[in-house]
Amino acid sequence: MGAPSRRHTATADWSAGQYLKFEDERTRPPRDLLAQVPLDSPGRVVDLGCGPGNSTELLIERFPNADVIGVDSSPDMLRKAREQLPRCTFVEADLSAWMPEQATDLLFGNAVFHWVPDHPKVLARLLQSLPPGGVLAVQMPDNTNEPALTLMEKVAASGPWGAAIAQAQRNDLPRPEGYYDLLRPLCSRIDIWHTHYNHIIESHAGVVEWFKGSGLRPFLAPLDAAMRETFIANYTDEIRLAYPARSDGKIMLKFPRLFIVAVR
Ligand SMILES: C[S@@+](CC[C@H](N)C(=O)[O-])C[C@H]1O[C@@H](n2cnc3c(N)ncnc32)[C@H](O)[C@@H]1O
Repeated sequence: MGAPSRRHTATADWSAGQYLKFEDERTRPPRDLLAQVPLDSPGRVVDLGCGPGNSTELLIERFPNADVIGVDSSPDMLRKAREQLPRCTFVEADLSAWMPEQATDLLFGNAVFHWVPDHPKVLARLLQSLPPGGVLAVQMPDNTNEPALTLMEKVAASGPWGAAIAQAQRNDLPRPEGYYDLLRPLCSRIDIWHTHYNHIIESHAGVVEWFKGSGLRPFLAPLDAAMRETFIANYTDEIRLAYPARSDGKIMLKFPRLFIVAVR
């Protein structure tokens, strides 16, 4: 597959509170992904990168008789998930090395694999671990060329923070053809598609809040409080120019996402 040109290094822990400020919008892609999972009554289901449990809750609703397990590397996200779903099992692990137990029927990864280094290889390994008929279902933001993301890089390149955040950019995703060529030989059926959401956000500050819960994290984590404030102020100015307010004063945030459903 084409080698991604940029690098990302994860640093600080995630914040469940910040992430959940846009819970409705963030839970729509996993609903759309789950709608395409061709399973009736799986026995064992794993929510990969379960975060605060919003995607896990969807899995429990759809498969009430399944053993549903959440896996995440963030203690803060897991704390929130355990609070939300006390009867569910949550495991702290890094997906780079994690392997499912035998007879797992569904591996569901919403908005996580773009954070996992060399994720195509990890997807191939996980798909191969499934029994025949098992499903790997994945959604990732494909938005590195959207202004909201390129402007993070612009601000990173122009401020006093210099090398501290030089490695913060997220890699571009491979093209759908790359995933197809990699995963098709490992499965009996594969469906790959894009959906472009147009989220309506109250204000420019709201757009910045959205990304503080995800894409801005690696840029802000290495900075001290004063630098963070300057970075956010500069980024907000850029967002204001790139996303003009609509007729009602709100902002339309275009958000392309890539979906993959592979049946072993
Ligand atoms: C954007 S949130 C997605 C949460 C949830 N799945 C959803 O649908 O909203 C991404 C989650 O992936 C987790 N994550 C990132 N890298 C990871 C890794 N290498 N291994 C396990 N979890 C990881 C983060 O801790 C975070 O909770």
